[in-house]
Amino acid sequence: MPRMITGIKPTGRPHLGNYLGMIRPALDLARSAGAGDGAPLFFVPDYHALTITPPPAELRAAVLDLTATLIAFGLDPDRDILYRQSDLPEVCELTWILGCTCAKGLLNRAHAYKAAVADNLAHGRQADHGIGFGVYSYPVLMAADILLHRAAAVPVGRDQRQHVEIARDVAESFNRAYGPVLVVPEPVVDERMMTVPGLDGRKMSKSYGNQLALAAPPDEIRRWVSRIVTDSRPPAEPKEPDTILALYRGVAPDAEARDLERRYRTGGVGYAEAKALLADAIERLVGPARERHAELMADPAGLRDILARGAGRARESAAGTIAAVRAATGLGWA
Ligand code: TRP
Repeated sequence: MPRMITGIKPTGRPHLGNYLGMIRPALDLARSAGAGDGAPLFFVPDYHALTITPPPAELRAAVLDLTATLIAFGLDPDRDILYRQSDLPEVCELTWILGCTCAKGLLNRAHAYKAAVADNLAHGRQADHGIGFGVYSYPVLMAADILLHRAAAVPVGRDQRQHVEIARDVAESFNRAYGPVLVVPEPVVDERMMTVPGLDGRKMSKSYGNQLALAAPPDEIRRWVSRIVTDSRPPAEPKEPDTILALYRGVAPDAEARDLERRYRTGGVGYAEAKALLADAIERLVGPARERHAELMADPAGLRDILARGAGRARESAAGTIAAVRAATGLGWA
């Protein structure tokens, strides 16, 4: 039976795009039969976050913020295993071992690395200028996260699908060298899952500065929604689906989303009304979690305790794989 794992990177304050694009689908999968046997695993990949060398205090704060966010939106730390990646240093040992059977050429083809190289070349710089080994080997660390727990199902956003495919290749090349030790994982990408647009209609992303923080209070939500760019069609005129409607589909119940879509197509709804509906629907979705998040953040020691307990369970989950990998490769004594 497939077991599920996913990691959510601690970079900045979590926003609505993170929630709709990956946190909610992963929590939905964890609560469904698709999660398979064994507790679903969620972790905060702080080793991965080091590729951008964040200030240490910011990194730790982001880990706690994300931990509180996941719990506020329904992760159950007693049932699910929630841990911080760096509390499981076995993942670094496995990264090295996997790197020894993983072809370097496989990593040359990773989208994130290729994009960094293309950017350098476009600016007349050397291909690898400023690209750290961490960025280059990022997919191997990610493979280790997954393979360490023999996880088979990995819910991710579309942008992470290739990384899970690389993890498959990494597992297969290890198994070719040493026998069938590792479970080959599958990406689970919800194809209906929209690319969540931000203020300007582009993908919601911190790097575009077009995001809405999940912890935003009601007045900030309203102000943010009011700034969504629209055309100037009056209420009576029919309208094409736009950013407002795309976000509404993500946050409102299906029937209400269909209703607004119909009114867009036939005419009879103005942007001001649509924006008010959207702001209300966002508030209904995030309001209760915002309060729970604030309570959790007020008790950092409690959050650290949750992560410590999760790490203990994660290390138990990883112990069998590390032992099997060491035995298969000739490390330690047989
Ligand atoms: N790379 C993922 C991201 O940027 C985070 C991540 C790290 C991850 N390790 C993982 C996701 C393992 C799924 C499984 O979003």
